[in-house]
Amino acid sequence: MAKNHIIDPRPDLPLFERGESHTLVARDIVQTFLDDGNNEVRAIEGFSLEVSGDEVVGIIGPSGCGKSTFLRLVVGLDEPLAGTLEFDGEPITGPDAQRSMVFQNANLFEWLTVEDNIAFGLKATGCYKEKCYKIPRLIEMMGLQGFEKSYPSQISGGMASRCGLARAFVMNPGLICFDEPLSALDAFTRATLQDEIIKMQQAAHASIILVTHDIEEAVYLCDRVVVMTERPGTNKGELAIDLPHPRDRVSDEFVEKRRQLLELLNR
Ligand SMILES: Nc1ncnc2c1ncn2[C@@H]1O[C@H](COP(=O)(O)OP(=O)(O)O)[C@@H](O)[C@H]1O
Ligand SMILES: [Mg+2]
Repeated sequence: MAKNHIIDPRPDLPLFERGESHTLVARDIVQTFLDDGNNEVRAIEGFSLEVSGDEVVGIIGPSGCGKSTFLRLVVGLDEPLAGTLEFDGEPITGPDAQRSMVFQNANLFEWLTVEDNIAFGLKATGCYKEKCYKIPRLIEMMGLQGFEKSYPSQISGGMASRCGLARAFVMNPGLICFDEPLSALDAFTRATLQDEIIKMQQAAHASIILVTHDIEEAVYLCDRVVVMTERPGTNKGELAIDLPHPRDRVSDEFVEKRRQLLELLNR
């Protein structure tokens, strides 16, 4: 038998159920914090974003302009001070399996093995028994065979990112927020992982919001990129990237989109 042969207990079931198309609407979002001196810091001021279907939307902007703050609102970890946040027409009031987040450095649970990290969402929501057939398939799709029983400290950064991707997609979410997911990886691993993100996104038909500070990554992955201003972050502009996948990083069209995005950022 081949070393990494996987026996699929449910070959009749799809890895990703094709659900309804989803829509996120964020309108005029305001968020503030108190700094160390108890002074109010306006992090976001009137930022708006709409994402639907299987769009990949990038958010790019200066450090501290409220990008992570915005993602935390979208996945329901915090509540905005003002503005409308709706998912499929319902107000976002807390976390939900339909909206997941991938943090920088994958943020795996150090005390769980690779397969238990991937299974975490299924177990937490009580659907492990019904959906556990997805685990070996995701492990195979992400090239993690042979490392199922390894702990995060025993695998490379690239493998940890693959594991984080599998963990985010296992719940078949309608929307996944990525917060600079690949910024700690070397250039070669990052390029491979970018292809894995697109592969998973196309298989799962999920929407993606991708926060990145890498202009090339935004142009490589996104259908459009929203540019934010300095803090308090609000909409500065937007660039559509209507190039087919897989994209050629050295094509004239690609280089031109990079130039346009850089120009928008520096405007
Ligand atoms: N929990 C918090 N408490 C106080 N200030 C915060 C908190 N989270 C974020 N901020 C402040 O809000 C601003 C936006 O932060 P953040 O969303 O992390 O920026 P970005 O992700 O765009 O770099 C920053 O000035 C940051 O210091
Ligand atoms: Mg951030």
